[in-house]
Amino acid sequence: MQPERGNPSITVDAKGVCAGFRSVGAVAGDVLMYHGSLSSMGTVLDGGNTVIEGARLAVGPTGTVAMPTLWYHSVDPPLDPSDWDIDHSESYVGTLSETFRTHPESLRSDHFSHSVSAIGSRAPELVSDHGAGGLRHTPWGPRAFAGVSPWARLVEWNALYCFIGVTFRVLTLKHYMEAILLDEISQTIPPVKREAAMGKLSAIGRPGIWPSFNSETLEGRLADMGLVRYGEIGSATVRAIRARDLIDHGLPLLREAPDEWFSDAFLAWCREAVS
Ligand SMILES: CC(C)(COP(=O)(O)OP(=O)(O)OC[C@H]1O[C@@H](n2cnc3c(N)ncnc32)[C@H](O)[C@@H]1OP(=O)(O)O)[C@@H](O)C(=O)NCCC(=O)NCCS
Repeated sequence: MQPERGNPSITVDAKGVCAGFRSVGAVAGDVLMYHGSLSSMGTVLDGGNTVIEGARLAVGPTGTVAMPTLWYHSVDPPLDPSDWDIDHSESYVGTLSETFRTHPESLRSDHFSHSVSAIGSRAPELVSDHGAGGLRHTPWGPRAFAGVSPWARLVEWNALYCFIGVTFRVLTLKHYMEAILLDEISQTIPPVKREAAMGKLSAIGRPGIWPSFNSETLEGRLADMGLVRYGEIGSATVRAIRARDLIDHGLPLLREAPDEWFSDAFLAWCREAVS
């Protein structure tokens, strides 16, 4: 997405990054996940490494910091998931993410489309066994947002989920929510219709139906409930929500009023599948 426009006359150092994360709720021992734009903050001394340093200061020596380091995306010619290389496949989600991936202490989860990288005390546990259990259908295969995955752990551990200079539009955890909802619905499909119904869903290399929703609208609704905190790092807005608040309050909003959130195609698929 287009990030906030940074003000280059504002200089940001690690202490400033730490103060920004602390202002939205980061505490010692936390697990802090962030998406972000480097330019939105102004002039960041030493770039992405300073942001890592500031995030680590915010959570202290017992804490953990993490970023999405996604590789697989839509390009021409298309990428082949079998070319995924955990050590070399570059993150496409910005300089902060690629700097994080290549940090000497960074560990990465093994998934071609939705890998997470982490540094700190719980990093080995956070990135381990991506997709080893709790499989769920997604357009990126059953392991991407599985019950055993870094994404599920961020929720279990109630991570502080942050955005620097960007909105909830880049909320990768939204796909975890979509996968859970789809899983719930798919349990109610009569067995005789199940295979045909699931075959209409989006899958790797197959466009199709998927319960995508507008995560910026969700940000507004959760902010109205007082669950999103806003602060600043340099010239950028920093947004934050606890991962469990996102799931515990976000999923009910989606379940209660599907017509408000999902496409006509998905709603028609649901009606047909569960009837
Ligand atoms: C796409 C996105 C990364 C673009 O943000 P961006 O700030 O333009 O780009 P990057 O973060 O890659 O940083 C590169 C920019 O920082 C600038 N920069 C370089 N060193 C810098 C420094 N020390 N301080 C500040 N800016 C610096 C570069 O000049 C470049 O800006 P330019 O493109 O205008 O020349 C951002 O909008 C975004 O969406 N981030 C989240 C992505 C995500 O997590 N997606 C999840 C899946 S949807």
